[in-house]
Amino acid sequence: MAKLSVRDVDVRGKRVLTRVDFNVPIKENGDQIEITDDTRIREALATINYLREQKAKTILMSHFGRPKGKRVQKYSLRPVGDHLHTLIGQPVIFSHDTIGDVPEKIIEHMENGDVALLQNLRFQPEEEANDPKFAQVLAKFGEVYVNDAFGAAHRAHASTVGVTKFIEKCAMGFLMEKELKYLHEELDNPAKPFVVIMGGAKVSDKIGVLKALMKKAETILIGGAMANTFFKAQGIPIGASRVEADKTDLAIELLDLAKERGVKFLLPIDVLEAQEIRAGAPTRNTSRLSREHGITDGWQAVDIGNATIALFEEEIAKAKTILWNGPVGIFEIPDFAEGTIAIAEALAKSGATTVIGGGDSVTAVKQAGLADKMTFISTGGGASLELLEGEELPGVAALTDK
Ligand code: 3PG
Repeated sequence: MAKLSVRDVDVRGKRVLTRVDFNVPIKENGDQIEITDDTRIREALATINYLREQKAKTILMSHFGRPKGKRVQKYSLRPVGDHLHTLIGQPVIFSHDTIGDVPEKIIEHMENGDVALLQNLRFQPEEEANDPKFAQVLAKFGEVYVNDAFGAAHRAHASTVGVTKFIEKCAMGFLMEKELKYLHEELDNPAKPFVVIMGGAKVSDKIGVLKALMKKAETILIGGAMANTFFKAQGIPIGASRVEADKTDLAIELLDLAKERGVKFLLPIDVLEAQEIRAGAPTRNTSRLSREHGITDGWQAVDIGNATIALFEEEIAKAKTILWNGPVGIFEIPDFAEGTIAIAEALAKSGATTVIGGGDSVTAVKQAGLADKMTFISTGGGASLELLEGEELPGVAALTDK
């Protein structure tokens, strides 16, 4: 069922309680908190600026980190509010409490067009418990509710689900709409061939999404440490590589399913191996992997090999739609990043609709300086995976039907 959009609601002069996902990566610099990637804040600007133009009173709320219901200074949203101030060129009124007298007074004195930010929702244990009383207190802050926090839409918390029971009009923000358009609508009926590149460490994290994507994709390319579990399942020696030794049955299940569905399911045919995971460690390309020639004893796979890069590039060049989730090697170490960068470059020149499904592949694309060459980059981690698995996101389901 289509949901109400912020465009469909009269927000002029109204108090609009807006859930955003300002859970951004940070670095501690002495007493200072440095935001290392502000994408999630920038991506919320379309909605925030629209509300400002409409002369709404925008009350922003977000979680930040996992402080587990306690006030943890490092996770105060104040620096995020300061950063938002510089991005919108307008002061952001910061409430150092999430609920209570402080935000109540602030909201009471807000003028049309003002923007306020509440302290981290997760300083309150009631947030993650989806406590109805807490949700009702939050709900009193707004006349209209907007959810633009796609990254948190898979969490049924007080600010994403509970609050919607107490406000009549609950709408999606522009980022939420955009995420659903690409990850849901576009990939539901993709232009073919549809090629999926799946990397990362664990098969067990990706089993649901791989099964769901096998219903739609012609080709699935596997990289990253999760490939080792498939190697082991097939009797290919994996040396000292990272593996989920107890998940080989899942790997076999996926291989069988691919065969049954006629999906081209390609594992790396060679890898880059190293004895140590550190910059400058000696590396070498294995020969073509087989039961007889696997990864060397005492060595581990750290990236896909040259023959695999060529094979994957060929498949990517044929695609009309590409979804990429998870790096194919330990790209944080430049010596092991060649495969992941090659994938990003192949996507950039493919001419296909390219969707980057959140998490570390987003970092990789940015590191390669190719972010603006992709059709869409998701701001969600767990939320994107759950959506791709075909799950209904509670934060979306709770919004008002159109
Ligand atoms: C994320 O970073 O994926 C979202 O902000 C959700 O955070 P969480 O996993 O701590 O709920």
